Amino acid sequence: MSDVMTPKTPQWWKKPDVKKTAILWVICTAVIGFVGVAFHVRSMVRPASETMASVINLMRIFTWAAAPVAGLVAAMCITVLTSERHYGDNPPAEADHEIRNSPRTVAAWVTISGILCLFALVVGMIVLQKDSQAVLDKSAIQVNVTGQQWVWNFDYANGARSQDLYLPVNKPVVFHVTSVDVMHSFWIVQMGIKINANPGYITETAVTPDKIGVFDIRCAELCGILHSYMQTKVHVVSQADYDAWLASQAATEAKA
Ligand code: CUA
Repeated sequence: MSDVMTPKTPQWWKKPDVKKTAILWVICTAVIGFVGVAFHVRSMVRPASETMASVINLMRIFTWAAAPVAGLVAAMCITVLTSERHYGDNPPAEADHEIRNSPRTVAAWVTISGILCLFALVVGMIVLQKDSQAVLDKSAIQVNVTGQQWVWNFDYANGARSQDLYLPVNKPVVFHVTSVDVMHSFWIVQMGIKINANPGYITETAVTPDKIGVFDIRCAELCGILHSYMQTKVHVVSQADYDAWLASQAATEAKA
């Protein structure tokens, strides 16, 4: 009678290898999370826009969300590799875990995986939504970006054209991106924006640079033999410097 009243520790939890795996799981999760954030996330570029700052933050969150999954796999591997070997044709008696066929375990597994996937999906859609709103900003500077094998050309509203991009700091900018030959991908590394440049189409992306400095523009789509050299710089300058540069550039274009 008393047996029914007291909550029982499940049998599988008493197995030493299950306990060992559980302890290792916690340790591996912590190690993978910390190492992932310390080495991978911190080695990412220093952000030059709020977009890139949020990308880095998202990487931190996703690294921690993925750590328990990787941690469980690592814990199981360590348990298997450090357990005593069993010889013979039949599995040892202690290998018969109820956990293996437990509907509750399966339910927990499916639910947690589902929540993790939904979390990634919802967060991604929120970020996408923010990006597509930024493209509609009427007060933004408009720059046409044209990719070709293997250079980038930038056209500004006043008729200026350049191969190094110039932008004023803290001002939203919308890029209208296309290509004259094959598919390229316009990527401003430190600003966290990347969009395909397709021949015959205009794709759009937007960003607000928030640091003065020189940053990298790369092509992120394999586009031929010199793909890896298809890179240039973006110069983020003060509004006054930008205006001066733009005026001088337009004057040069007009003379040419
Ligand atoms: Cu253009 Cu790769």
